[in-house]
Amino acid sequence: MKERTLLLLKADALQRGLIGRILSRFEDKGFAIVAMKMLRMSKDLAKEHYAHLVTKPFYPDLEKFMTEYPIIAVVIEGKEAVEVTRLIVGPTNGSKAPGGSIRGDLSNSTSRNTIHASDSKETAEKEIKRFFKHDELFEYKMHNEHFLKASDE
Ligand code: PPS
Repeated sequence: MKERTLLLLKADALQRGLIGRILSRFEDKGFAIVAMKMLRMSKDLAKEHYAHLVTKPFYPDLEKFMTEYPIIAVVIEGKEAVEVTRLIVGPTNGSKAPGGSIRGDLSNSTSRNTIHASDSKETAEKEIKRFFKHDELFEYKMHNEHFLKASDE
């Protein structure tokens, strides 16, 4: 039941200062962040990641958007992470995504929709390996009692 899934916080999320708010939604839901890095995707990496879309007319715009600016790759872990994450993220088109979802609340666009999330367990496994080496993924206990107090007293 405990799963991992990949998120890519897209350039529009960074440029608009939405990273903290987006990550909070996953933390609030009880997911653990087990890996995170800022990077710029190469064109080759974009072609691999979006292999199913390279023949689409919008692919050149998608590639430019995903490679010209830094993005943040994140792996989160928790119960039914793949399916629950897709619900938290909402459908591709922010204009049609329901209020309460990240895209529904923060985007009015299909391309500048703030976040990518793996669409199945199989995809998640491949996508996590695409962005993270094994030793960049962390195992730790959430809500460790030694760190739960905000003050020293
Ligand atoms: S499809 O054709 O149904 O598979 O595509 P869809 O799921 O709607 O979208 C897949 C990703 O392509 C991005 N996208 C676009 N980028 C740029 N321009 C346009 N017009 C465009 N349309 C779709 C969309 O944001 C999806 O990105 P990810 O990273 O998968 O969320």
